[in-house]
Amino acid sequence: MDKIKWIDNTHPNHNKFDKCRELFPKGISRHSREFHDEIPGFEISPLKSLNQMAKYVGVKGLWVKDESVRLDLNSFKVLGGSYAIYRFLKKRLGVEKDFTYEELISPQVKEKTGDITFATATDGNHGRGVAWAASKLGHKSVVYVHKATSQPRIDAIRSYGATVKVVNGNYDDAVNQISIDAKANGWEIISDTSWPGYQEIPTWIMQGYTTIVSEIQEQFSAQGVLWPSHVFVQAGVGALAASILGHYRSLLEENSPTCVVVEPDKAACLYSSIKTGDGQPHNFPGDLDTIMAGLACGDPSPIAWDVLTEAADCFISVPDYLAAEGMRMYAVPLKGDPFVVSGESGAVTLSTLKHIMHDPELSELKEKLQLDEKSKVLLINSEGNTDPINFRKVVWEGSKPVPHR
Ligand SMILES: Cc1ncc(COP(=O)(O)O)c(C=O)c1O
Repeated sequence: MDKIKWIDNTHPNHNKFDKCRELFPKGISRHSREFHDEIPGFEISPLKSLNQMAKYVGVKGLWVKDESVRLDLNSFKVLGGSYAIYRFLKKRLGVEKDFTYEELISPQVKEKTGDITFATATDGNHGRGVAWAASKLGHKSVVYVHKATSQPRIDAIRSYGATVKVVNGNYDDAVNQISIDAKANGWEIISDTSWPGYQEIPTWIMQGYTTIVSEIQEQFSAQGVLWPSHVFVQAGVGALAASILGHYRSLLEENSPTCVVVEPDKAACLYSSIKTGDGQPHNFPGDLDTIMAGLACGDPSPIAWDVLTEAADCFISVPDYLAAEGMRMYAVPLKGDPFVVSGESGAVTLSTLKHIMHDPELSELKEKLQLDEKSKVLLINSEGNTDPINFRKVVWEGSKPVPHR
């Protein structure tokens, strides 16, 4: 039976905050949130309190930031792509002052920028966000997906007018191919992962995600909660985790919550890079064939790696059945708790928490993380049912059951 594996952050930069402060300076989440708030129809996503689940797992409080309802796009990803395109256009026009959204979509701005084709590789959600943002601004988009990307995810990207190309390989191959083709075709890459010489846009993307933390802290204050004691974030290339955890570290430094990163064991590039122990990020080889499609990434984003080696306390690698269990836990709430639609990559942290709290084999991890009846735990439901066919297979038909010894 595949098991949960974990490793402490042994990187020499752990608990230093230089990169966190550099990439998430004071005021960055306000700036990104002000931009997002201007988008027509934009609303704060709910911070749902799962009181009964908290009692069941054995912690004081459990909250889930529910990104499944973000702008009808079913995931948080649009926050990064839209903010990065905004910063890109400002830079291209050489404008220091902030644009209003109305100015941004105006014919005058379009006349100055000319026609732009934004391009990206994706395992689904990021491409959808970039295609959405490009279409709102009257620009074109080209999105490369890998061969295992499901048809509903491809259809969702196409629905915003993007040209979608399926690359014969995995997510990392799609990233490589788009970087070559973009150069040849004059497309502007809006990638959520970075590589040597390409960091500015991925940094803007991570900064765009900090809107989530700004909203969470406002929602916590309305409930009289200062901040969580523990934050669990799921990772693909690590940009989301770096943004949430790095922003908390930049704000709170040593008072930050305990920060935990969760990855699929079939694509555990951050976990295995820490395990390698030479301080460098490494490729996780193979097909990356996990049901957690949004987390199926073999290469950590180098800038996310730099943040996470400072900010994360622990890296956890988990089998696919945990994602499926988490989806069912959200979809069948305990009496009194709200219902949450959570997809494969969104749900995995909830079941991971449950196993850490209840499985005697994980008692050392529970103790290390100091998870107990005083803990206030924050999770991010990063997506809804972005693949409705697989969602039903898991939630209705019980696909990927938890194996019993
Ligand atoms: C639903 C979902 N959750 C989490 C992630 C992880 O984000 P990152 O690749 O920045 O680690 C992704 C990435 O695509 C995603 O789609």
